Amino acid sequence: MNKQKITKAILPVAGFGTRFLPATRAQPKEMLPIFDIPAIQLIVEEAVDAGITDIIMVTGRDKRAIEDHFDKNFELEQVLSDKGKLEELAMVRRISKMANIAYVRQPKPLGDGHAILCAKNFVGDEPVVVLFGDDIVKNKGGKNAVQQLIDSYNVVQKPVVMLQEVPRKDVSKYGIADILSSDNAIKKITGFVEKPSVDEAPSNFGVIGKYIITPEIIKALETTKPGKDGEIRLANAFMDYLADGKDLFGKILEGVRYDTGDKLGFLKATVNEALSREDIKDDFIHFLKNEIKSFE
Ligand code: G1P
Repeated sequence: MNKQKITKAILPVAGFGTRFLPATRAQPKEMLPIFDIPAIQLIVEEAVDAGITDIIMVTGRDKRAIEDHFDKNFELEQVLSDKGKLEELAMVRRISKMANIAYVRQPKPLGDGHAILCAKNFVGDEPVVVLFGDDIVKNKGGKNAVQQLIDSYNVVQKPVVMLQEVPRKDVSKYGIADILSSDNAIKKITGFVEKPSVDEAPSNFGVIGKYIITPEIIKALETTKPGKDGEIRLANAFMDYLADGKDLFGKILEGVRYDTGDKLGFLKATVNEALSREDIKDDFIHFLKNEIKSFE
């Protein structure tokens, strides 16, 4: 089988971040730090660590801080160099060299599917990774989520979505996949419902915002009908694609997923990141224990 190396990722980052107002009043939600790293940097690092070299970010108004973050900053580098802050200098240089990043604007918030279509001309006839900005995965000591998707794609050579078991009561927050139960680590998806009610959900395997899509999915996006709100959604393209009898697969996530689009999820990711830093870990645990006691 002719295996095509996956080197490109599309990151739709045009959303307003209304759930995080006022923090997102004048800065993109993707720049909110998980401890001290902007969430978007964690997503880019995950892609780069899995071999992605080219990233297309679909941005909107007021997202310039993202471009600045990944750009070279001569002035800052000069200041750090003059002050002998070599570690920081190496860090900011690394960020600006991480990947080739192209930016395309989504003129109106017409949905994640529309955002992907805005990036269409930057990808050829090839499979591409799609990463939503809210889903951060930690898999200590194991493969990162993008690598898990790419490895799965290399086996099935079809679109793959990342799945995770979610509590039944939460199915209406996710795309829910019906899967063929077998022992295979990569599941064949037989049905897909976007945000069903508990009664309608075919399973509790929720889709998280990490995918590998193929030109066939782009084709489905081009013809899928916008919803009542006028938005073109990737989830609808998956449903159309499956209805055409085509093969879609799911990889069950190895690792812990944090939904940083949700306030509690964001807090959990931040605490986890802080606890993984050797220099502050012990003091932070001590603080947390006392803090918890004072609330009991
Ligand atoms: C989107 C997708 C949904 C998926 C979710 C994961 O929904 O449409 O299928 O389960 O991301 O975060 P959103 O949360 O953007 O409304």
